[in-house]
Amino acid sequence: MTKQPESESDRVIIFDTTLRDGEQSPGATLNADEKLTIARQLARLGVDVIEAGFPYSSRGDFDAVQQIAGKVGTPSGPIICGLARASEKDIKAAAEALKPAAKHRIHTFIATSDIHLEYKLKKSRKEVLQIAGEMVAYAKSFCDDIEFSPEDAGRSDPEFLYAVLERAIANGATTVNIPDTVGYTMPAEFGAIIKGIKENVPNIDRAVISVHGHDDLGVAVANFLESVKHGARQFECTINGIGERAGNASLEELVMALHVRRQYFNPFLGRSVDSTAPLTRVDTRQIYKTSRLVSSLTGMIVQPNKAIVGANAFAHESGIHQDGILKNKLTYEIMDAQSIGLTDNLIVLGKLSGRNAFRTRLVEIGIELSENDLNKAFLRFKDVADKKKEITDRDLEAIVNDEIKQAPEIFTLQRVQVSCGDPAQPTATVTIGMPGGEEATDAAIGTGPVDAIYKAINRVVDVPNELIEFSVQSVTAGIDALGEVTIRLKYNDRTYSGYAANTDIIVASAQAYINALNRLYAAQTKMEEAAASMKQPV
Ligand code: KIV
Ligand code: ZN
Repeated sequence: MTKQPESESDRVIIFDTTLRDGEQSPGATLNADEKLTIARQLARLGVDVIEAGFPYSSRGDFDAVQQIAGKVGTPSGPIICGLARASEKDIKAAAEALKPAAKHRIHTFIATSDIHLEYKLKKSRKEVLQIAGEMVAYAKSFCDDIEFSPEDAGRSDPEFLYAVLERAIANGATTVNIPDTVGYTMPAEFGAIIKGIKENVPNIDRAVISVHGHDDLGVAVANFLESVKHGARQFECTINGIGERAGNASLEELVMALHVRRQYFNPFLGRSVDSTAPLTRVDTRQIYKTSRLVSSLTGMIVQPNKAIVGANAFAHESGIHQDGILKNKLTYEIMDAQSIGLTDNLIVLGKLSGRNAFRTRLVEIGIELSENDLNKAFLRFKDVADKKKEITDRDLEAIVNDEIKQAPEIFTLQRVQVSCGDPAQPTATVTIGMPGGEEATDAAIGTGPVDAIYKAINRVVDVPNELIEFSVQSVTAGIDALGEVTIRLKYNDRTYSGYAANTDIIVASAQAYINALNRLYAAQTKMEEAAASMKQPV
C-alpha cells in the first residue's frame, strides 16, 4: 500500500537562498523590486522558506526583506527568513525587517572551524560557544523560528561542532544548518558529518537538520543527496545554482533528483519504496519559468548543458539517440520536459490577439502582472507581434522579463541607427534621453555595429565602465526569433548587468547597455549620497 506523507518529517523542506547567498554572486545584484518579483515567483514555485536577504548589510537589503515579508509572507505563503551574524545589531535589524511576515525566521551564524576562529574572528572556541548560545537566545526573544549555522562546519572539529549545536538547540534553535562553506567536503564525508551530528548531539531531535553547500568541487548537490540518507531534512539551495564563487547547490537539480528518483529516496524518509507522494512541496512545472526569470534579472546566463534548465537539457542531437526517442522516449529520457514546465506550446498568440487573450495566456503560464505592468507588456507584445508572426510562451516570458525588469530609467534610448556591411565602416548614431529631460545625439565608428553603438552611447553618457561580458541568445528558433542580450559591466570592482529582448538584436544590444549603465549610475549615486550624509554633522 502507498503511504501518503503524514508529517513534515517525511518530506524535505526547500529553503531557497537565491535572494541572499545567490545574490552574492559577482554581478548578480538585484534591486528591491526585482527581489520582490523573484520572491513572488518563488512562492508560486512552492518553496517552503525564502531567505530574502541580509537586512543589516545595507539599507537597500533591509527594505527589500521588509517588502518581501509584507507582500509575499502571507499566512498561506512561505516562511520569510533574514540572515544575521551572531551579533545583536544584525539580529535586531533582521527581526525588524521580518516583522510584516505572517511566518518569519531569523537565521544567525558564526564560524566554528579553527581556521576561521584564528584568522577571521580571532576568538577562542570557548568564546564562540558562548556567543552562539547567547545570540540564539537573543534571536529567540524576537521570534520562535530560529535557524543557527556553524559556518565552515565542513572543516570544523566534529566534537566542537556537536557542542555548539547542542548549545544552540538548548537556547532555542529550531533548525540547525550545516554549511560546507568552501565546497571542500566529499559526499561520503558530508553524509558522515550528518550521521555524527544525529548520533552525538543529545538534543538533536528538537531541531530540523538543514544542509547548505557551495559547488567549488562540483559536488554540492551530491552532498545534499547523501545527507538526506542520514537525516538532513532541509536543503538550502538557489535557482540555477547561483551564489558565491562556483555557486550554491542548485534547487532544480535537487528537486528533480528527489522527484525522478523518488523510489530510491523514499525509504530514507520512512516511506514505502513505491510511495508516489512528492518528496517536496515544489510545483516542478514552475521550475523552468523561475530559472528564466532569475537568469534575466541577475544577468547570470545558464550554461546550455546545465542539468534540468540548460537549453540542451532535453535536446537529442545524435542520430542514434533521435532514432531511439522516436521509437520510445524512455530509451534516452529519464524525465519529461513538461514536468519542469517546458512545453512545446506551439503558436499561442499573434498580431490579432487582444489584451484579454494576452492576459489570459499569461495567467495560464503562471505570470500575474499588475495592471500597470500588464499595459506595458501588452504594448511590447503588440510591437513584437508586428514583426514576428507566432508568439510562443517563451517569447511571452522574454517580453515580460524585458518589460517589467526594474532597472531605473535615468538614461533612455530614444533612437539608434547603424550602418555596416562589407566593405563599410560600422557607424552608429544614438539619441539618448538625459536625466534632466533633454535629448543628446552623437555618433561613432567601431569594429562592428555593437561596438559602434556602445562607443556612441559612451560619447553621450559619461559613466566610466569596463564591458566584461556580452552575450546574445535566441529565445526560440526561426529567423524572426526574439534575441536576448545580456551584458555585464564592471566599475570599482562591482559588476552590473543589463538585459533586453527584441527581434532586432542591434536594438536589444543598445537597450541592454543602457539598462546596465542605469544600474551602475543609480548604485554610484546612492553610494555617493550615503558617503556625503555620513560627513554631515548630526
Ligand atoms: O556558506 C555559508 O556558510 C553561508 C552561511 C551564512 C550559512 O552562506
Ligand atoms: Zn553560503
